[in-house]
Amino acid sequence: MEFLSIIICTILFLSVLLSYYLIQEKKKKQKHKAKLPPGSMGLPYVGETLQIYSDNPNVLFATKQKRYGDIFKTHILGCPCVMLASPEAAHFVLVSHAHLLKPTYPKSKETMIGPSALFFHEGAYHTCLRKLVQSSLSPGAIQKLIPDIEAIAISTLESCNNSQVVYIFREMKILSFEVGILSIFSQLESKYSTELKEQYCIVDKGYNSLATNLPGTAYQKALRARRRINQILREIISERKEKKFLDKGLLGHLLNFKNEEGQTLPEDQIADNIIGVLFAAQDTTASVLTWIFKYLHDDHKLLEAVTEEHMAIYKLSDGGKLPLTWVQTRNMPVTYKVILETLRMASIISYTFREAVVDIQYKGYLIPKGWKVMPLFRNIHHSPEFFSDPQKFNSSRFEVAPKPNTYMPFGNGVHACPGSELAKLEMLIVIHHLVTKLRWEVIGHSNAVEYCPFPVPQHGLPARFWEKP
Ligand SMILES: *[C@@H]1O[C@H](CO)[C@@H](O)[C@H](O)[C@H]1NC(C)=O
Ligand SMILES: *[C@@H]1O[C@H](CO)[C@@H](O)[C@H](O)[C@H]1NC(C)=O
Repeated sequence: MEFLSIIICTILFLSVLLSYYLIQEKKKKQKHKAKLPPGSMGLPYVGETLQIYSDNPNVLFATKQKRYGDIFKTHILGCPCVMLASPEAAHFVLVSHAHLLKPTYPKSKETMIGPSALFFHEGAYHTCLRKLVQSSLSPGAIQKLIPDIEAIAISTLESCNNSQVVYIFREMKILSFEVGILSIFSQLESKYSTELKEQYCIVDKGYNSLATNLPGTAYQKALRARRRINQILREIISERKEKKFLDKGLLGHLLNFKNEEGQTLPEDQIADNIIGVLFAAQDTTASVLTWIFKYLHDDHKLLEAVTEEHMAIYKLSDGGKLPLTWVQTRNMPVTYKVILETLRMASIISYTFREAVVDIQYKGYLIPKGWKVMPLFRNIHHSPEFFSDPQKFNSSRFEVAPKPNTYMPFGNGVHACPGSELAKLEMLIVIHHLVTKLRWEVIGHSNAVEYCPFPVPQHGLPARFWEKP
């Protein structure tokens, strides 16, 4: 009996010793292999979330970058994460090692937009949907939209032209929604577009509110509106199938798709991707357009140069009687650089999220599996190393192409924004009609910024418009 317990004790003792030894060895190995990046993790759980949401997050990132360098760790929303602020690191994460880092979004946002929307996915499904979205936004497809985008721009600007105070961001949100509807549906009956707009506004309000299951909250209302949108889309789809009107816009591309087995896309996948595209396009484009109004307003010389470029086109098109041509929109060099510089200055997408699917090493640092990884676009766009005098708006800097991977207003790699060309076309057209027809005065001389959630000038840039003399 005693002999048996001695043996058991010895075995136990030895196994404890062995596991202790193995753990130490493992720790040593990890130490030798790579260490975590520098940085502070803040208070546990709350981490640095409060700081991120309390004030301009970019101040926090820039301070940390100064202190720790281009790679540092922190905690956001209960997740440990590594932030990266160099062009090479952004390329590593978004392009060369994209297969090891998956896009990641909070569950509440995924539910709201729709879990089948392409930006929540990777692999074959993502590639397939991305191709469809891309082909609906190809140069060949978007140039056909020019006359309709012009009509939308003209009618928005006409509604601004009443010498009353208008909020430019609000107007630009309406405009970019209409362009979104146009590129998705081609034509859409007004009974559908009106209701879609109403329901979408409710979703939009709930999207950035606290996700709770309590009835009566903005989030709950948004979920209900989101379900109603699915119904409206179903009605539109069945009507189009009936009328065999299936060839145009993103919806046409999605409806016509058949995989190798001849199967079409299920309707909920179609709906989620349509909402996804609307979401990705609206506030982003509207924020950038609002910044363009501000930058042009604040710099008379710049406005003069841009106006001159457009007056020349305006005269050639018989005082604006002829629609703009694709070739004309490809030949607005002064304006194009203003757009590029606005995208850099405003950097409305200041960062993006990925999640490490395995342990990753980058420049001797360990990025553990499950950690979030955030390339900081804004820090790169505002680094004096790549853009001289970075806080200054100077569109001439784009006379020379930026260094590789230093300029990513639409992201990079397989998840880069497929709508970038449409967004720029929309901006060129709005600027054309703005500077040839109207002048405007911003009310108040504030340089303050608001986050809605993208940065926009304070109060959405209140202004008054008049017809040009
Ligand atoms: C602006 O408003 C004025 C006064 O109502 C009107 O005469 C003019 O045609 C409008 N111009 C544009 C471009 O909307
Ligand atoms: C704008 O940038 C260009 C090109 O980098 C430079 O030559 C010029 O001096 C800058 N202008 C101002 C006003 O800073």
